[in-house]
Amino acid sequence: MLEAREAVKHLRAYHPPLAGRQGLRLDFNESTLGCSPRVLARLKSLDSELLARYPERQPVEAEASRFLGLDPAQTLLTNGVDEAIHLLCSTYLEAGDEALVVVPTFAMYAVFAQATGARVIEVQAGMDFSFPAESLQSNISPRTRLVAIANPNNPTGAVVAEDLLLQIAEAAPQAAVLVDEAYFEFHGETLLHYTGSLPNLFVARTFSKAYGLAGLRIGILAGDAQQIAMVRRVASPYNVNAAALAVLPEALRDQKYVADYVAEVGQGRGLLERELKALGLHYWPSRANFVLVRIGPAYSEFIQALRGRGILVRDRNSDPGCEGCVRLTVGSREHTRILIGALREVAGKLRLGCEVRA
Ligand SMILES: Cc1ncc(COP(=O)(O)O)c(C=O)c1O
Repeated sequence: MLEAREAVKHLRAYHPPLAGRQGLRLDFNESTLGCSPRVLARLKSLDSELLARYPERQPVEAEASRFLGLDPAQTLLTNGVDEAIHLLCSTYLEAGDEALVVVPTFAMYAVFAQATGARVIEVQAGMDFSFPAESLQSNISPRTRLVAIANPNNPTGAVVAEDLLLQIAEAAPQAAVLVDEAYFEFHGETLLHYTGSLPNLFVARTFSKAYGLAGLRIGILAGDAQQIAMVRRVASPYNVNAAALAVLPEALRDQKYVADYVAEVGQGRGLLERELKALGLHYWPSRANFVLVRIGPAYSEFIQALRGRGILVRDRNSDPGCEGCVRLTVGSREHTRILIGALREVAGKLRLGCEVRA
């Protein structure tokens, strides 16, 4: 009988709740407005000739590198940040190596690392999901070959100070240190300018969030040129599809669209956080396009009640340290207004936060 590798047999299947996503989708941190109209127009103009050809990544990669202020040798366009993580795991992890992640965090670091046969060491975040710099450093060993840190983090929205990230990269020169900046646009701080000066540092960006292109699957991995050359060896030359490559330059050119959306999300996040406070619900201040809130034992009814009002939000109850928590994506002004209206109704109906308000 054909058997999968042991590491794969022990993997827990990861099933994001994708089925039946009808309504206002505030469950996957996508853009609720979608991509720029200029990007959509470019997409609609594509012809069958483009689709008949294998995609050519290199010229678009050069353009994306220029946009980031990097050399093309320091970047690799990827099939979303998901693929960037997968490629880093394939490039650096052997069975028995160790991969460090701070939990709670994005699930795919552990999935791709475990699939190589590496051991994933989960370091619990500190009070209020603060970055556990000391315990992370004390878990670094000669076997540590990957450290993955989302900044801002998903699902907490917490951020890490630059000096702490640099300390980790310096403390683990034998490890690929990935700073996943999937939510960079909402936070505005980056480690990209250290690309190359710290040879083990990688920074990943995505076009799935602020750019509204999750369905096209495109992201960028940046790192030291010699290391990126290694990562490139394990990537398919056709990893990014032709449609994504064709529209990316237009997406990069229309920065006004991205900036306007990011500003709208920033305002909406402030409104939402104020509302949660007024409702007596505990939330964690976020630097991303979502807010994690502790609903408590009624979290499941809360999710269902919002679903009943046509709003999808994400259950994070089983993430470490997130008992009773739900993640709310912040979208456009109008979508945040709808969310806040529904929150008031549901909080009243389920008598959430009443002990704080009483
Ligand atoms: C921290 C983080 N990294 C990466 C991703 C996946 O990004 P992509 O769509 O580019 O694969 C997500 C998506 O939710 C995320 O939250």
